[in-house]
Amino acid sequence: MDTTIENMINSIDLSAPVPEYEPMRQYYYLKACRKIVKEKSEALNRPLTAVVSTFGCQMNARDSEKLLGILKDIGYQESDDEENADFVIYNTCTVRENANLRVYGRLGQLKKVKRANGEMIIAMCGCMMQEPEVVEKIKTSYKFVDIVFGTFNIFKLAELMYMCFTGDEQVIDIWDSTKEVVEELPTSRKYPFKSGVNIMFGCNNFCTYCIVPYVRGREKSREPKEIIREIERLVSDGVKEVMLLGQNVNSYGKTLDDNVTFAELLREIAKIDGLERIRFMTPHPKDLSDELIEAIRDNSKICNHIHLPLQSGSSRLLKLMNRQYTKEHYLELVDKIRNTIPDISITTDIIVGFPGETEEDFEDTLDVVRKAKYDSAYTFIYSKRTGTPAAKMDGQVSEDIVKDRFNRLLATVSEVSHEHIKRYEGMDMDVLVEDIDDHDNTFVTGRMTNNILVHFKGDKELIGSIVNVHLDECKGFYYMGTKND
Ligand code: 5AD
Ligand code: SF4
Repeated sequence: MDTTIENMINSIDLSAPVPEYEPMRQYYYLKACRKIVKEKSEALNRPLTAVVSTFGCQMNARDSEKLLGILKDIGYQESDDEENADFVIYNTCTVRENANLRVYGRLGQLKKVKRANGEMIIAMCGCMMQEPEVVEKIKTSYKFVDIVFGTFNIFKLAELMYMCFTGDEQVIDIWDSTKEVVEELPTSRKYPFKSGVNIMFGCNNFCTYCIVPYVRGREKSREPKEIIREIERLVSDGVKEVMLLGQNVNSYGKTLDDNVTFAELLREIAKIDGLERIRFMTPHPKDLSDELIEAIRDNSKICNHIHLPLQSGSSRLLKLMNRQYTKEHYLELVDKIRNTIPDISITTDIIVGFPGETEEDFEDTLDVVRKAKYDSAYTFIYSKRTGTPAAKMDGQVSEDIVKDRFNRLLATVSEVSHEHIKRYEGMDMDVLVEDIDDHDNTFVTGRMTNNILVHFKGDKELIGSIVNVHLDECKGFYYMGTKND
């Protein structure tokens, strides 16, 4: 735990009025909650436990680390046993309808559990909560949910929990924009050696299928010095790799007074001593600059991987999606990246079944997959999101056609990526060891700078270190290797 934060919390006087300004206000509630949790725990004669369940993307994963940091600070122990936990929070995603359905399914299960354990506190937050009809549904049909908040005010968890502990109403607090960002709060990282770092929040792109701009608000960049300070702290706490997070990192800096570009930010971050790897997510093809490509080429700390969402290979559909690039432009960009950084790995996101997609449009997508030679691709079936322009478009594609195209896309992606990933076979590569192998505990699993996984003989002592590994055999989308001495 950061000692400055700890000292600030210790200096709080709980008998004084609640501070009006942040972060002192949250420090007050952290301290007040610590007291309540301690009393509850003493009465039960056991520690209280909390489960943070994350749906969705890396932004949400990072938010969950912040939530867990607060929960641990006030005295909860992390657990994965939802049925017996004292506090359960769902950090939700709404990017596709499936994500919402899964949340409702899990919530239904939780209702039964709460019937048996009335003391359990249930909280919901994240993107789904930014949709008014979802909150309405929770108010009326899921009354057993105790706390509801959204994407803009996760820093208020301690305050909302205090309200829950001391009142008997459902606590609901949803903001519709970022009124303030409170950063100096405890976080609890999943991995000691790597961390996500938000460099910007929100999105201004309004792709016609996407709900994110509506639930994450307008784009807002963090000040470079704050980002650098956060990374320096992380590095002094053992972090070797950071993942810079933003919905469209290319437009980083546009909302700041001094117009710093994303490439400039990357170069500054690369100067941090002790930091070994920098990743970022997600650039938009429409405004990916030469400066950025050169920054990746020139800087060995910036990983040799770029995630470049295609969405569709058809220029006609790309226009309807408001993506602001054409098939040709995208392929030129891929060529430029590969010519400048020959060993880079390129991955992508693709949507199948966007309204009006014809067989010809779909063939264009397959054509780009073959030409771009992705190392991997996340493939999605179009999901209609109420409130987005695409939801009202004509020509919603029938389920069986979409399923057929989806399967053909999967087959093409695996064929192309298996063939392409093989190119590293026989090479020696640096690998950041992340975990013990799931299938065999005499093996460890790590990632190369190109983000591809490698499994090799090793033990838990290696976790968090970067080791050189010989790539013996490509197994499709991962490698088996041998550690070099
Ligand atoms: N339907 C299907 N996939 C979607 N994505 C975003 N919105 C939708 C939607 N309505 C996908 C995009 C994006 C990824 C994070 O999720 O491919 O890049
Ligand atoms: Fe992430 Fe988008 Fe899901 Fe929100 S809606 S959690 S931003 S993927």
